[in-house]
Amino acid sequence: MESHQNHIIKIGVVGLGYWGPNLLRNFSQLEGCEVAYGCDIKKDVFRKLAVQYPSTKFTVSYEDILQDDTVQAVAIATPLSTHYELAKTALERGKHVLLEKPMASSVVQCQELIDLAESKGLILMIDHTFVYTGAVKKIKELMQELGDIYYFDSERINFGLIQHDASVLWDLAAHDFSILRFLFGDVRPKAVFAQGTRHLSSHGEEMAHVTLEMESGIVAHVHASWLSPLKIRKILIGGSRKMILYDDLEPSEKVKVYDKGISLNLQNITPFNPLYRVGDIVIPKLDTTEALSVETQHFIDCIRSGAEPQTPGREGLEVVRMLEACDQSMKEGKKVLLSS
Ligand SMILES: NC(=O)c1ccc[n+]([C@@H]2O[C@H](COP(=O)([O-])OP(=O)(O)OC[C@H]3O[C@@H](n4cnc5c(N)ncnc54)[C@H](O)[C@@H]3O)[C@@H](O)[C@H]2O)c1
Repeated sequence: MESHQNHIIKIGVVGLGYWGPNLLRNFSQLEGCEVAYGCDIKKDVFRKLAVQYPSTKFTVSYEDILQDDTVQAVAIATPLSTHYELAKTALERGKHVLLEKPMASSVVQCQELIDLAESKGLILMIDHTFVYTGAVKKIKELMQELGDIYYFDSERINFGLIQHDASVLWDLAAHDFSILRFLFGDVRPKAVFAQGTRHLSSHGEEMAHVTLEMESGIVAHVHASWLSPLKIRKILIGGSRKMILYDDLEPSEKVKVYDKGISLNLQNITPFNPLYRVGDIVIPKLDTTEALSVETQHFIDCIRSGAEPQTPGREGLEVVRMLEACDQSMKEGKKVLLSS
């Protein structure tokens, strides 16, 4: 008899705009997984997909997925304002959930979803995609080599795509916050200060600068914008021994490690003579497996084993906590302290 471990896991992918088709493609390629449904409230978005994936049923009705007892899980890639309701209904109906970032619109909503998943014994995983990339995993490995960390500086700017229900921070900085948490461990920033501006719409900032003070004294800085003529995706991490440049737009040499450092002899400041050490630049080999392929497999593995995902609801909540603190800081025009 076939063991439970080998049963095909049937899944529904909800929201088939820009990101959803990537989830659909990756789940479809996994062994032991079948995308039984694709769902979007707009019929025209799945016309082409229906030809590409003939064995998947496409529907405008979420209920079709929920009422099908053979479907064990849903992956939700709809706009932020719908995440909470769609995830809550799925969990209530006994489905495991892979939910897009940012997890929900408030910490309260995130906590509710976590509690619900826990009480039902279901997997709730958040799509913090960058955590599953070869580049970010390599940087994590290299962090030890950097010495004392001085800073984390991220530039995540481009022209559009303006979201109707999320500010640029909730859309773009959510990535940096998840990367930051992955690299620096499960630590909450001590304080957050954010400044943002709304030039085009009244419901969300299109550009913002955030400063996060970490417990360890590191200052992290994130610049996110939809109003830049250029697309830039660069993170610099500086340490006392080495520094890293992560340029996500580089096709293959995404990570560069600079063997650079500065020493000061404070005993002898006249003449002031800092020592600048300039060594090699190393370009490490990266695992180039598509992050979503790793991630969709991980989700299926967690459903089978019951193990906690690497990016569980708790991680989604912490990112949303940082985003909420940014909003509060922008509203009040001052630094917001976060309790640990
Ligand atoms: N992880 C990543 O790197 C990444 C990248 C892009 C987007 N995202 C996230 O994915 C989500 C979707 O973003 P997008 O850029 O694909 O948006 P999008 O607007 O292109 O697509 C969203 C789709 O959801 C559909 N939809 C809306 N409400 C629905 C409902 N109740 N039921 C079914 N379908 C519904 C819309 O018709 C639309 O086709 C967002 O949360 C975004 O933050 C994540």
